[in-house]
Amino acid sequence: MKRLYNEYEMLLKAKREKYAVGAFNFSSIEIMRAIVDGATEARSPVILALSEGGLKYAEPHYIKHIVNGVLEMTDAPVALHLDHGKDFEIVRSVIDLGFNSVMIDGSSLPYDDNVALTKKVVDYAHKKGVVVEGELGVLAGVEDDVSSDIHRYTDPEQAVDFVNKTGVDSLAIAIGTSHGAYKFSGEPKLELDILRNINDLMPNLPLVLHGASSVPQYLVETINQFGGDVSGARGVPEKLIAEACANGISKVNCDTDLRMVFTATIRKFLVENPTVFDPRKYLQACKDAMREFVIDKMTNVLCSAGKM
Ligand code: G3H
Ligand code: 13P
Ligand code: ZN
Repeated sequence: MKRLYNEYEMLLKAKREKYAVGAFNFSSIEIMRAIVDGATEARSPVILALSEGGLKYAEPHYIKHIVNGVLEMTDAPVALHLDHGKDFEIVRSVIDLGFNSVMIDGSSLPYDDNVALTKKVVDYAHKKGVVVEGELGVLAGVEDDVSSDIHRYTDPEQAVDFVNKTGVDSLAIAIGTSHGAYKFSGEPKLELDILRNINDLMPNLPLVLHGASSVPQYLVETINQFGGDVSGARGVPEKLIAEACANGISKVNCDTDLRMVFTATIRKFLVENPTVFDPRKYLQACKDAMREFVIDKMTNVLCSAGKM
C-alpha cells in the first residue's frame, strides 16, 4: 500500500499529547471516503478499520485498490487496520493484502490461549513490519460471531503480564463499554479507576477503547421519525470518552455512529424526496453527513484535529 502511516507511532504521539486517534470502521466507498475526507479536512491522523465481516462484504481485492486510490488523495496520516481478527489465517491474509496494523482478538479464549495466539501473531506481524493490538477483558454485547452478556473488566496486573508475554504494540481493555447501539440500560458509567491503574502501570503503552460510539439521540430520533425503530439506542456520552482520552486511551473505535448517520440520512432523504431514484443523490447526502460527523468527533471529542 502507498504511504500508510505507522499506527504505533501515531498512537504514541497521541498518548504523549493526551488526545486519541479515531479508528472508524468502513465497508463501502462512501464510508471510507467520508472518513478520509473528514481526516483531511480536520488535519487529523486516522485509522481505517475493517472487521472480518466488513472485509468479506467489501471484498479484499477491491479494498486493496480502493484504499490505494484514496491514499493518493490525502495528506492525512492514515493506517489500515484489521479489527477483531479472530485467528492467525485472517491476520496473514490481510498482511498479504497490505494492511499495516492488525488486531488479534483472543479475549474470548482462556488467558493462556489468548497469550499464545497473540504472541504467534506478534512474532509473525513484526517480521513484516506490521503492528499488533491485543485484547484482554470482555466487552458485553456482540462482536461478529462472539457475544457476551456480561463485562469482564481488564485486570491491571494481568494486563502487564499479557503485554510482557506477547509484545503487543497496543492493548484493548474492557472498562464498561460494549459494541453496538444499545450500550447502557441504566446510567452510563466507565471504570476509569481501572483505566488509570493500567495506565500508571504501563504509561508508554497505547490503550484502546472499543465500543466507543456515542449514539447521539438526534440520530435515534431521526431514524425513528422516518420509519425505523431503534428505540432505546444509547451510546457512551461524549464527556466520558473525552475523560477516557485524558486518562490514557489513545485509540477510540467507532463503527455504530457512522452506521447511524448513514441510516438516519438516507431514511430522511428518501422520505423528503420521494421522486429521487438516483443513488448518487442520496449517497452524496450520506457521505457529506458522515464526513461532518467525523470532523466533529475529531475536533470536539478526540481532540485529534490539527495533530497531523
Ligand atoms: O467491533 C465490532 C465492529 O463494530 C464490527 O462489526 O462485525 O458487524 O462488521 P461487524
Ligand atoms: P461501536 O459499536 O461502539 O461503534 O464500537 C465499534 C468497535 O469497537 C469496533 O471495533
Ligand atoms: Zn471493537
